[in-house]
Amino acid sequence: MVLELSIPEKNVPLEPHVPAGLAEVLSVLERVFGTELAVVDGETGAVVRSMQHPPGGGRWELWGVLCRQAAEHGRPEFLEDEDPVVVFAFPLGRSERSHFVAVGIFLCRPVGPGDNLAGAAALLGTTETEFRAWASRQVVWSPEALQRLGDLAVQYVDQMEQATRFEQEAQSLSAHLASTYEEISLLHRLTRNLKISRSDEELGRLVLDWLLEVLLAEAVAIQLLPVAEGRSNLSAPGRTQAVLLTAGQCPVDCAGFSRLIRYLNLGVPLQPVVLNRAITRRPDWPTPQIRQMILVALVEGENLFGWVAGFNHVDDGEFGTVEANLLSSIAAILGIHSGNLELYRQQSELLAGIVRALTSALDARDKYTCGHSERVAQIAVRLAQQLGCNARQQETIYLAGLLHDIGKIGVEDSVLRKPEKLTPEEYEHIKQHVRIGHRILQDLKKLDNVLPIILYHHEAWDGSGYPDQLPREEIPMGARIIAVADAFDAMSSDRPYRKGMPIEKIETILQAGAGRQWDPQVVEAFFQAKQDILEIVRRERQEIPSGWLVSPESAFGSAAVSPAT
Ligand SMILES: [Fe+2]
Ligand SMILES: [Fe+2]
Repeated sequence: MVLELSIPEKNVPLEPHVPAGLAEVLSVLERVFGTELAVVDGETGAVVRSMQHPPGGGRWELWGVLCRQAAEHGRPEFLEDEDPVVVFAFPLGRSERSHFVAVGIFLCRPVGPGDNLAGAAALLGTTETEFRAWASRQVVWSPEALQRLGDLAVQYVDQMEQATRFEQEAQSLSAHLASTYEEISLLHRLTRNLKISRSDEELGRLVLDWLLEVLLAEAVAIQLLPVAEGRSNLSAPGRTQAVLLTAGQCPVDCAGFSRLIRYLNLGVPLQPVVLNRAITRRPDWPTPQIRQMILVALVEGENLFGWVAGFNHVDDGEFGTVEANLLSSIAAILGIHSGNLELYRQQSELLAGIVRALTSALDARDKYTCGHSERVAQIAVRLAQQLGCNARQQETIYLAGLLHDIGKIGVEDSVLRKPEKLTPEEYEHIKQHVRIGHRILQDLKKLDNVLPIILYHHEAWDGSGYPDQLPREEIPMGARIIAVADAFDAMSSDRPYRKGMPIEKIETILQAGAGRQWDPQVVEAFFQAKQDILEIVRRERQEIPSGWLVSPESAFGSAAVSPAT
């Protein structure tokens, strides 16, 4: 549900010195009293709205002083009385905000032709003739009725004032509710997206778009700092450079943002930092295009992962506690997410390290297969990237590449290292390595996704492989990828009975086997990524101690075809 709240337009002021709401009240009162009313400022005694058709000049200096008293008393008062007129005043509201007093000149009895009107005309500063003409147009009021109506008018204005106050309170409450709703909705969306599979950059981008809708800022940004780089940047890639994610018209780039942070020299602030014009107007402020800024650190425990910032208030106003609180809540959630990701990354790195140690022990049994697992893992990851697999799938494929032949631990050395052709029994024995590998690892929860790949990495696209003769798409994608990586590394490596094949020959075999031995899509990915794969093989073989290399100068020397194991 979307909560929509609107704020009514303000009344347009009718006179420069009389508040808009009051002008409305006055016009009502003038209709009720049947005469025009002047308005006096009850604090200064000055006339802020005069009458259009006064019977004379009037004694406004005296009446101003008396109006101040009426305002102070908060009740209607007769300012002067000279038969047949009275000057009557009543306060327009009794609050601290409203100190205006309405003043009217009222006729208290009908005027006859023989009446002496000299006193009344003098009071108002006019001639008898003019007074008589004015009196002929007036409604006649008894002083008692005036008093009663004055009391009612004061109450009426009080109620109007109260209603206006309530309306303003309702408006500000509505605005507050609307912004609170937006905040809660943003935080809700954010927490719903807190998955370990979502990278901090991905989550940051989502947050920025939402944040720009809510925060009254021209731009918002998240800077994510580098995380420690591990040996295994394939299983758990770490960011090596800071990145600045932005939304809106961001006034700085990543380097500029870093310079600003250095200039501010905040350390790791636990509270939001608000930089308004008082600071950004200083002559040494390094980024004049930033007029206002709000900054919160992304912290989890003792680790600083980055910053969340808002730049330049949209109305050129100032950022305050509302913005600071919102950014703090977001930064706290993002900080926890970054902390979790880092923990997960470290765990993955540890796991990959342990797996590498395990598989290099296996590879070390045979100098001909030295480095095979690591190469297969890296080639498979490159193929997976080519095929559009996501980071999590690539991580699984990397581990599966490392572990694909782990079951060979259970294969006799005499069979594993036999230089001659294997007997059918020996071949059956070596085929068991897929089941043995599956059995060894099946209790490791973290490797759940890796297990089917290990079990099926010797299945063939046409259903002629082992152990279950699965055809085509029934073979897990990861296993189809490992199969190509495994075959390529086996064919290109030296064996006791042959040297590594030349690349041209390997390509011919792969092309011939696409759609029979291997998934044609994976073979196609191999040809697309061929240069990178050759580079992986070259680099990884360089890392092997030279004594282990059988023929380093001819990694792709000529030899006979042999199946991958
Ligand atoms: Fe194998
Ligand atoms: Fe293998």
